[in-house]
This record gives sequence, structure tokens and C-alpha cells, in this order.
Amino acid sequence: MRKFLTATFAAAVLAVAVPASAEEGPALEHQGWSWHGPFGQYDKAQLRRGFQVYREICSNCHSMKLVAYRNLAYLGFTDDEVKAIAAEKQVQDGPNDQGDMYSRAARPSDRFVSPFPNDQAARVANNGALPPDLSLMAKARVGGPDYIYGILTGFKDTPPEGVTIPDGMYYNIVFPGHQIAMPPPISDDQVSYADGTKATREQIAKDAVAFLNWGAEPELDQRHNLGVKVLIFVFVLTVLFYALKRKIWATLH
Ligand code: HEC
Repeated sequence: MRKFLTATFAAAVLAVAVPASAEEGPALEHQGWSWHGPFGQYDKAQLRRGFQVYREICSNCHSMKLVAYRNLAYLGFTDDEVKAIAAEKQVQDGPNDQGDMYSRAARPSDRFVSPFPNDQAARVANNGALPPDLSLMAKARVGGPDYIYGILTGFKDTPPEGVTIPDGMYYNIVFPGHQIAMPPPISDDQVSYADGTKATREQIAKDAVAFLNWGAEPELDQRHNLGVKVLIFVFVLTVLFYALKRKIWATLH
């Protein structure tokens, strides 16, 4: 019995201690995301800026294999604009009648073209580290959008005393272990926004995160819209039933 109790106690201590020690780094700062809360919606101007950031910066290293060019229509791009964006990239297609594979311009129905032909090539170009696909990143990591924002803005030029960072690695306060193989991808004014928004590092990071969240959860706006409609419906129904109840009981008193 005592053995059993000791074992249970030890297991309980472990269960409490292990997650606590695995959780390193500072607590994530919560940003006010437009899509949070039951009535939250994406800000389409922000999504367009975020796409610009992905297109000009992140897509040099990261794929986003689950998003198709035609999905960009949701951000307000016209069919012609979507076609032009897709056509900038080449994809492998085939085989043709001769049995040959060939390359052609991407079409709106194609998924975002990856920067590298395969994982091996991606690693070779990135010091051995694989830049993960960003399609579901906003859902894949604990903290979601706040975590990605933290990574993008959490680089420090000089690590704390006593910490040495090997060549090709960078110090990041949010990344688990603090050593990341991604070079700091954004700095002030790295993009220039057509809508006049000031491109500070924080703004660029926020816009990129909004775009990645949309990529991972494109149906969120519809879901929230439906939620609002259901609430209105239930409210109207309640008023109707209340009126009905009064009418019925009026004659029964
Ligand atoms: C020069 C190439 C490069 C660019 C540009 C780049 N990344 Fe990365 N990124 C990497 C590599 C390599 C890793 C893997 C790091 C590691 O495992 O140490 C990574 C990792 C990440 C991670 C994952 C962190 C985790 O928890 O695994 C996120 C999120 C990320 N990048 C977002 C972005 C965003 C957003 C942009 C554009 C603003 C961007 N990256 C631009 C190379 C890049």
C-alpha cells in the first residue's frame, strides 16, 4: 500500500513538474486580433497586406501548400489579379501526349507553389533546418497567432551573457530552446504598403500573422456570421414565444 501511495505521489509530482519545466521562454504577449471573440471578423485590408508580406518575404523559404491562388479572391483580388499572381510561378504538369512532363505557368486552381522542389533542397538552402509549411502554422502551435507574432518579433542581436549561439543560428526569446535557424525575417520598412499603412516591424509581423491565420481558418468569418444570425433568430423566437404565452394565459387567469 505504501509503495502504491509513494508511486502515485511520484507520478503526480512528475505530471505537475514535467509540463512546467517544458514550458520555457516568456509568457506570450496577447495581441488584439480582429477575428477574436464571437463577433470577430478578418480585416481584409490587413489580410491583403499580410499576403504581400508572405509573397515578398516568407515565401522565399516557406511553402503554404494547402492554399490555392483562387482562395485569394476572398481578400478582394479580382479574377484577373488572381490569374496574374498565379502566373508568376511555374508548376510541373503532365505527362503530355508524348509522355513528357512539362512546366507551365500556375493557374488560379493550383495551390501556392513551394519555394523548393523538395525538403532536402529546402534544408540545404537553410543550414540543415527545414522551414515548415505555414498553411496550418497558426493552429499548429500553442499560442497560435500570439506565438507566431512572438517568434517574428522575438529576435535579439545579442544573446544573454553566457549563452553562445552557433554560426547560422539566431537567438529568439520565444522559440523553444531560444536557438532558431530562421534569420530575422522582418525589419522596419521592409515592405511598402500600397494602402499607406506604416510598415513598422510590429505592423508587418501582425499583418503576416493575420494572413497565416486566415490560411489556417479561412471559414472563420462565415462561422462568426452564422453565429450572429443564430443569436438574432433565437432572440426573435424568444420574443414571439413570450407574446404567445401572454396571449394564451390572458384568457386562462
Ligand atoms: C531565409 C529563409 C526564411 C524566411 C525568409 C522566413 N523563414 Fe520562417 N523559418 C525558416 C527556417 C529555416 C525555420 C526553421 C527554424 C528551426 O527549426 O530552427 C523557420 C521557422 C519558422 C516558424 C516556425 C517556428 C516553430 O515553432 O517551428 C515560423 C512560424 C516561421 N518560420 C514564420 C515565418 C514567417 C511568417 C516569415 C515571413 C515573415 C518567415 N518565417 C520567413 C526560414 C525562413
